[in-house]
Order: sequence, then structure tokens, then C-alpha cells
Amino acid sequence: VTASPATSPHLDSSVRCATLLDRFLEVRAFTSALCETLEVDDFGVQSMPDCSPAKWHLAHTTWFFETFVLAVARPGDAPFDPRFGFLFNSYYEGVGARHPRPRRGLLTRPTVPDVFAYRAAVEERMTELLGDEAPATALLDVVEVGLHHEQQHQELLLTDVKHLFSCNSLEPALRPGAKLGTATGEPRSPGWTNFEGGLFEIGHAGEGFAFDNESPRHRVLLEPFRLANRLVTNGEYLAFVEEGGYRRPEFWLSDGWATVEREDWSCPLYWSRDEAGTWSEFTVAGRVPLDRGTPVCHLSGYEADAFARWSKARLPTEAEWEVAASTFPFREAVRAGRFADELVWHPRPVGGDGSGLVQMFGDVWEWTASPYVAYPGFRPLAGTLGEYNGKFMCNQLVLRGGSCGTPRSHIRATYRNFFPPHARWQFSGLRLAGDVRTIDDASV
Ligand SMILES: [Fe+2]
Repeated sequence: VTASPATSPHLDSSVRCATLLDRFLEVRAFTSALCETLEVDDFGVQSMPDCSPAKWHLAHTTWFFETFVLAVARPGDAPFDPRFGFLFNSYYEGVGARHPRPRRGLLTRPTVPDVFAYRAAVEERMTELLGDEAPATALLDVVEVGLHHEQQHQELLLTDVKHLFSCNSLEPALRPGAKLGTATGEPRSPGWTNFEGGLFEIGHAGEGFAFDNESPRHRVLLEPFRLANRLVTNGEYLAFVEEGGYRRPEFWLSDGWATVEREDWSCPLYWSRDEAGTWSEFTVAGRVPLDRGTPVCHLSGYEADAFARWSKARLPTEAEWEVAASTFPFREAVRAGRFADELVWHPRPVGGDGSGLVQMFGDVWEWTASPYVAYPGFRPLAGTLGEYNGKFMCNQLVLRGGSCGTPRSHIRATYRNFFPPHARWQFSGLRLAGDVRTIDDASV
């Protein structure tokens, strides 16, 4: 990732402010655009404790700028509504008490128009700040964090609304008529790319924006490994389902098998099978027949891991993934993937002939076998924003590469997403990996 004018701290402050303001307005407008097809009844409902109502995302991302930027730059200004801090603080102990997360769906007030008015008021004040005043560099860095924070919530908004809609037998479409795409011809055959072992460097190299959890760059020792050239498809995953994958504990981690039994899982989250035995998948365009060439999506880490074992392979580690992703030009690879900007929030199949790694960026987040822990020498951001990432480094796995719900300008080769292994409402799938010397080539 090379430094862009928007992210270089050495740039003249007024130029940086202007660029940040453009990006601020662009990011904020895209959040609103994601809500275009929502009816007012859709905004306030919370379908499970892990999800938040769309209205809450809209307000919380606004609260972030109001709290961490405006209140610091203009301490004399009154907040838009002093009661909003309690409602829209997510998890920052340093900012104070908050409304309980599982009860966000009970907030019928502020209303949807109130929340949009809140957004507009904060946008106006941010426009004044970045346009007329000259905030300190440290504060501009926080604006930058706020933009990436809002982009994270754009994806969460999509996955949360999709989950909400899946709970309704009417199965509303978040993106009616979206052309999900099918591969031309047969799905691309699976293949592998081998990588030599050795000492490599991973992590943020110091140019451009990155979250604190991507630093510092450090050395890792890898044994020779290989990665599947493409993502696992629905067709391949269906074979696992039909061969009894969800009834055979030998493929599952202990916690994974306990989850299968407790939750009565028998297939990925949005799949269903009708009486005639035909499989379909709930998507942002409504329910569609299961397309065999499309990357499998909405898997938990447990399901991804079980599928990999059934395939006589394994999940990659995050270091293997990043080293592999660093071997080709980032920009081209990112252009090739499907991201949220396309407004088709569903992974795209890849067909035809071809070799080499594809689908590394976009389409679906790829579960890795790596626990989400601090890199050697990790230092959280100073102050309350130090709570952003570091305190979640426990009981979660790392996912890499971004998805069809990730804004394209949000992803990097060093980006570390993380979720608990049971979570499956994100756009999450997998790519197989293996040890070069021990895996049977014919197994996949
Ligand atoms: Fe947040």
C-alpha cells in the first residue's frame, strides 16, 4: 500500500484538511446510500444481540466524530443532544456508561428523522472544522480513524439488515433486482499455489492508514505451504453437507461440534432445502437457487475449519495469507474483487480457465486459523481510542481480505478483521491451505 495524499501526516495541513473533508463527505453519503431501500419500519429493529439496528449504526458513527473530534476541537460547543452519549457509545469505558448492547432495538426514540438530523448537524460542524479551522495533526489522525470506523459500520449495517430480513418469512430484498452474477461456463477448477518457507515480514509498513492492530511490522517464520487458487464454492461446500459433514464429529473442533449440536446447524446460515431437495440461498436480492460456482458465504470459523478437515486440508494462518497476498500487485487484485461499492452485496463466482491466486480481496472474508492476538511490540492508540482494538484480543479468529460488503478503499493486505469462531452472519467464507510436503494433491 503506498501512501495517498489523504493519509500522509507530513502533508501541508490545509491540503490534508481539504482531502479529508472530501473523503468525510463521501463516506457519510455512502452510509446514507446503503439505506436507500430501507423503509422506516426497518431502521430500529435488532434481530439478535450481535446485531445493531440500522438507526443505531447511523447515530453511533456520528457520535464517534462528535465525541472524539468535535468535543476535543471545540470544547465550548454544546453537544447536539447531551443524552445521546449514553445511547450511542458502543464500548468505550473511558467515555462513560452506556445503553446495553442487546437492548439497542428498544430505542424507538430518537426517531429516524431525529437521527438523520443528528447526522446532518455533525456533518455541518465537521465541514466547518475541516474547512475553516486548522485542527492539529493529532486530531486529523482521529478524523481518519473515524472514517475507517464508519466504513466498518457500513459493512456491519449491511450484514445486520440482511440478518434482520432473513428473520421474516417475506424475505425482503435489501437490494431488489441486484444482478448477483454467475460464472461463464463451469466454475474454475481448484488448484494450488506453492510458497517457499523462510523468514518473512508482515504487518503495517508505516505508509498510509492502518489500525493499531496491524503494527508493528515484524518477522515470521513460515514452513513451505500452499494456498488454494480460489475461494471454496457453494458446490464444494454442498458436497460436505450432503456427505453428512454436519453429522460427523470427527471433522469438528470440540467447541464447533458443541455449537452444531446446540444450535442445530445443518448447513450455512442462509441456505435452505425444499421438499423436492432443491437448495436455495437467501441473498440481498431475495432467495435464489444455490449457485454452485459462487463462493460459499456466511460460514462460522468452526464450519470453515470442519470443511477444511473434511477436504484433508486446513485453514491458512494469517501470516501465510499476508505473505501470499504480498506477492502480487495490490491495486490490480483489489480491482478484481467485488466490494460494497458495486452495490451487489453478494460474492461473485469465478469461472473459466486460469491459474494463480484469485479472489484474495473482496467477495468474502477468509477465515484463518490464527487467533486474534497482539503482534510483538503492539502498542494501542493513546487515550480512549486505545480501546478500539486491543481489548478484543481474546477468543477471536482473524479473517483476511475484505468482502462484497467492505468498501473498496477500506481494505489492505495487512488488514486484520476478527470475529469469534461461532459468528456466521458476516460475509465470511474460506480458502484452503496445506503443508506442501504432506497433503495429497488429489484430495481437493
Ligand atoms: Fe463502532
